[in-house]
Amino acid sequence: MKVDVLLGLQWGDEGKGKIVDVITPDYDVIARFQGGPNAGHTLEFNGIKHVLHTIPSGIFHEAKINVVGNGVVIDPIILKKEIDKLIEMGVDVHSKLLFSRKAHLILPTHKLLDAASEQEKGKNKIGSTLKGIGPTYMDKTGRNGLRIGDIFEDGFDSKYDKLKAKHARMLSFYDFEYDLAPMEKEWLESIEYMRQLTVIDSEHYINQAMKAGKRVLAEGAQGSLLDIDFGSYPFVTSSNTITAGACTGLGVAPNKIGEVIGIFKAYCTRVGSGPFPTELENETGEAIRAAGHEFGATTGRPRRCGWIDLPALKYAIMINGVTQLTMTKADVLSDFDTIYACTHYKYKGELIDYLPYDIDESLVEPVYEALTGWSEDLTGLKSMEELPQSLVDYIVYLEEKLETPISIVSVGPDRTQTIPRKHAMA
Ligand code: GDP
Ligand code: IMO
Ligand code: MG
Repeated sequence: MKVDVLLGLQWGDEGKGKIVDVITPDYDVIARFQGGPNAGHTLEFNGIKHVLHTIPSGIFHEAKINVVGNGVVIDPIILKKEIDKLIEMGVDVHSKLLFSRKAHLILPTHKLLDAASEQEKGKNKIGSTLKGIGPTYMDKTGRNGLRIGDIFEDGFDSKYDKLKAKHARMLSFYDFEYDLAPMEKEWLESIEYMRQLTVIDSEHYINQAMKAGKRVLAEGAQGSLLDIDFGSYPFVTSSNTITAGACTGLGVAPNKIGEVIGIFKAYCTRVGSGPFPTELENETGEAIRAAGHEFGATTGRPRRCGWIDLPALKYAIMINGVTQLTMTKADVLSDFDTIYACTHYKYKGELIDYLPYDIDESLVEPVYEALTGWSEDLTGLKSMEELPQSLVDYIVYLEEKLETPISIVSVGPDRTQTIPRKHAMA
């Protein structure tokens, strides 16, 4: 068997958590491959709304194994809280949650460095979630990081002290005040807790699972436009959020990747700073935010909202090798008689249909095509046959423009508000 991948094609928050939960019954193993607690993946079922940060979104299903891969960075404090909350809800977490020994640890000083760096950048800040993601990946690539495997080895304390001292020297270069002691106490307690977790060589586990005919789904975090190489740099996260990240973040060879499910909203959002060509800084943007409850699942920040951006989506589909699409939040656009799709950009006097190197808003002007909206409540609909014709037209329009079939349409946050599309374009 090959590993299927589900990942975001925009700037994150496309609904990955919801859709992974919906398709988990088709899989045996769900594995996160990158990112960390900057992610907030929301699941809703039986009247419960739950947000996951580190743990894969298959955790609510019986008899499914959830793996946190080597490409993920883990904050022990957040992880412990996440596990405690699930146990309180009656989820038997320990029997089905495995961690790669090679996943890196977020230290309290990584979070401080994140905050100090953002403070220094002032109005040019990235808009980081301040979870310590950037500094942790910097230590990983700089070959200084601490990994989960280290917490079981002699000498962990001295390794920790050495890295902490290095961070203290780095923090002294910033005009930044901090009180490490309370954070450190909680972190060390959480490290002690982590020693009870099941830690494995996850690359072997995943490859053996594939050999044994088990179905594995790799769950992405963030979105393709936040990818460290291909996103709107420098306003990106610090990991490869694209399909290639599933190879390095789980130890899966490129020829073992199967379906790549790319997920996008029927419009577009972004949280944090950086270019967003189709952003609507007006009443329409506010109306989308209100209808879509567009507030960050991790930070609570209002998300910036705009129309769908087809050049950006085409780019994301290309670099990910997307084989099928999932469209979420179609229900949110029900309030609009007319909706718009950006098909091109005007860039330095030329009409282009790709994302240029410099996505500066003053240089890139979106060109829109107006489409008829559906003005109908979709949230109770269960099958494609029930969808209003103008929404079917929108789906077919997108499939043609994106040259990729849409196989799932989501019409609400709940598990049940999901419509499979069997006759998607071949
Ligand atoms: P993720 O990071 O990609 O998992 O997405 P988030 O959980 O951060 O944000 C998606 C938000 O939209 C969550 O509040 C979901 O409950 C919600 N959501 C997902 N799909 C739909 C949908 O089809 N319609 C509506 N209205 N909400 C949705
Ligand atoms: P999920 O998995 C949306 C954004 C931050 C910031 C930039 C860098 O829920 O889709 P970082 O903390 O990684 O240094 O922040 O990336 N960002 C996200 N935006 N969804 C996410 O995750 C995000 N994770 C990071 O807002 O602009
Ligand atoms: Mg999210």
